[in-house]
Amino acid sequence: MSTHISVPPQMLLERILTLEIVRVTERAAVSAARLRGHGQEKAADKAAVDAMRRELNRLPIEGTIVIGEGERDEAPMLFIGEKVGLNAGPKVDIAVDPLEGTTLCAKNMPGSIATMAMADGGTLLHAPDVYMQKIAIGPGFDKNVIELDAPPADNVRRLAKAKGVDPTAINVLVLDRPRHADIINSVRSTGAAVQLITDGDVAGVIHCAKPDETGVDMYIGTGGAPEGVLAAVALRCIGGQMQCRLILDSEEKRERAHKMGVTDPKMIYGIEDMAKGDCLFAATGVTTGSLLSGVKFKKDVIETETVVMRSVTGTVRYIKAEHRQLDKFYLD
Ligand code: FBP
Repeated sequence: MSTHISVPPQMLLERILTLEIVRVTERAAVSAARLRGHGQEKAADKAAVDAMRRELNRLPIEGTIVIGEGERDEAPMLFIGEKVGLNAGPKVDIAVDPLEGTTLCAKNMPGSIATMAMADGGTLLHAPDVYMQKIAIGPGFDKNVIELDAPPADNVRRLAKAKGVDPTAINVLVLDRPRHADIINSVRSTGAAVQLITDGDVAGVIHCAKPDETGVDMYIGTGGAPEGVLAAVALRCIGGQMQCRLILDSEEKRERAHKMGVTDPKMIYGIEDMAKGDCLFAATGVTTGSLLSGVKFKKDVIETETVVMRSVTGTVRYIKAEHRQLDKFYLD
């Protein structure tokens, strides 16, 4: 008698893979965490990439990396277009940032994570590894409270009005970069606070979803496009608004984007433009930050903390794991 049970592909993506992708980010986080504080950004990133790729190739999927470590010629692994998985199961798009915050990890500073997203094939924005303008707020507001092209001060005032508070009660997260001087001045001109981060705008955007807990009302600034797509998937699961635009400031970048299907180089993307279908998001802490605890290496146990979300239900799970087969964990 056959004991084979066939699982509909949709159920795989919706439910079973939700927990499977946790393993992927856990392994990447542990591998990177072994190099925390070693000052070796590339080595830590490579460790995370190798581990993530190994785990992705064990999943029952026909996966395509659409947001990855770069295009094929500049990234040996997890490059955009790379096929991953057991080549059996649902066709899925995959976005990865195996080590988000490489500098944070290399310097053992708070907030580096291993992160990935998965969605039905053909539903994630395919974007080259360029910069992206971003603005995000949390859930519960009318559409278009924020506008990417409006002055930051206007966005702050509109959000304050929608929240029924004075602009001085608004806190805006911004990457600490010279290119953001005008944004910072504009926000401060309203009396609102600017909270600067040195790196890590995937977590930065996610913080907007729960302003009462994080104290972050808005994220504004230019960061990586891969990080933008990953953050959009997370907000698609937990709610919020986001508007983004790829910075395609040379013919070469416009061509790269065009090859990936970007027909309007000035397009403003909302969350649904970046993540059109059902999707999953997972992140495991590498160094302890305000979103997640980092990896803890103990005598017989490695501990990890992961957040995993899915858009179909909006369920958010925090998974604290204790890993015991340490030799397997290191050598696999
Ligand atoms: P990496 O992990 O690739 O170093 O990215 C960290 C990060 O801070 C992202 O969160 C952000 O989107 C991007 O860098 C900003 O780019 P830049 O450091 O060039 O300003």
